[in-house]
Amino acid sequence: MLDVQKIRKDFPILNRKVNGKPLIYFDNAATSQTPQQVIDVIVDYYSNYNANIHRGVHALSQEATDAYEQARQKIQTHVNAKHAHEIIFTSGTTHGINLVANGFSSLLKEGDEVIVSALEHHSNIVPWQMLCERTGATLKIIPMDDNGDLILSELDTLLNENTKLVFVNHISNALGTINPIEDIIDKAHNVGAAVLVDGAQSCPHLKPDVQSLNVDFYVCSAHKVCGPTGIGMLYGKEEWLNKLPPYQGGGEMIAEVTFEKTTYAGLPHKFEAGTPNVCGGIAFGAAIDYMNAIGFETIAQYEHELLEYATHQLQQIEGVKIYGTAKKKTSVISFNVANIHPYDIGTILDKMGIAVRTGHHCAQPIMDFYKIPGTIRASFMFYNTKEEIDTFITALKKSILMLS
Ligand code: ALA
Repeated sequence: MLDVQKIRKDFPILNRKVNGKPLIYFDNAATSQTPQQVIDVIVDYYSNYNANIHRGVHALSQEATDAYEQARQKIQTHVNAKHAHEIIFTSGTTHGINLVANGFSSLLKEGDEVIVSALEHHSNIVPWQMLCERTGATLKIIPMDDNGDLILSELDTLLNENTKLVFVNHISNALGTINPIEDIIDKAHNVGAAVLVDGAQSCPHLKPDVQSLNVDFYVCSAHKVCGPTGIGMLYGKEEWLNKLPPYQGGGEMIAEVTFEKTTYAGLPHKFEAGTPNVCGGIAFGAAIDYMNAIGFETIAQYEHELLEYATHQLQQIEGVKIYGTAKKKTSVISFNVANIHPYDIGTILDKMGIAVRTGHHCAQPIMDFYKIPGTIRASFMFYNTKEEIDTFITALKKSILMLS
């Protein structure tokens, strides 16, 4: 059982007021909030051992290096990677995807094909479009249905011996659909294609096992899992990371530099040019510890209750249409109210202290599919409550009356 009142005490921000009302934070799919335990780690770092890492023999540098590398190991254990050097620290999911897309520039040629799904965030579409422009490869799309599920049978017709890469998110940020990535990975591997899974929206809700998934690349961001912004991770199978060229040149990623020739460092440093976000990496590890202490099964069960509770209440309101009704989904509800622009509802909810996201959620192709400009999106984390959902429903009804 999850003791939500006890958990809420860990999050100082949940005590604040917005527009004179207690904050109700339902924009967790955009970014999660940070518990005191992680804030303390950040303060401790800058108060006691802020230093550049892998570079100094002095005590502070050694302490910072140890803490940073321990964080890498925590993440390795968390996602069950075989080696710590298969975990590359990035600035976030988008950076991880671009790193891989850039690396494949030298491996693809005209006639090759890459596949993305119709449910992707722009950050898992645009880098592949740019890759195709650079290499002459062709981009193909796994289509979706009205429920927001991928039409998996179509993948069989898209895959062939020219397919080199498949990119799919584990969970859709706009609709909450949990995609059948196990099937997608198996099917792609059957034709020899590599698979990158965007885990930005899954890592807050479940614990991925990269070895049992047999996935080639998996990316996520710390700020969605109660950590800070500006840090994330790319998991890549060792053989793939060895095959890809470095993304950026600079300090840290070299073995030896002369004006004639530079040789590169081994993994993971080959992909970590420049002074990294040391504090961010350490805090990312602390955030993973925090969530593991609660337990991902407990989190998933509680968030599912919130999802069902809110979905049922929303369905009772006349004019509300929910987008994304897949059987398997996480605690994300995208919806609209007939004849009212999502932005207007979002603005009035904000006046009542309630934070939701409105718009296309960086997933314009999904909005085009439904022929809508955008939605109102409420997304819940384990620190939200049914009482907050009740307040949100009352506020939503008030907004509808004001705007009708
Ligand atoms: N990708 C984030 C979202 O869905 C920002 O809101």
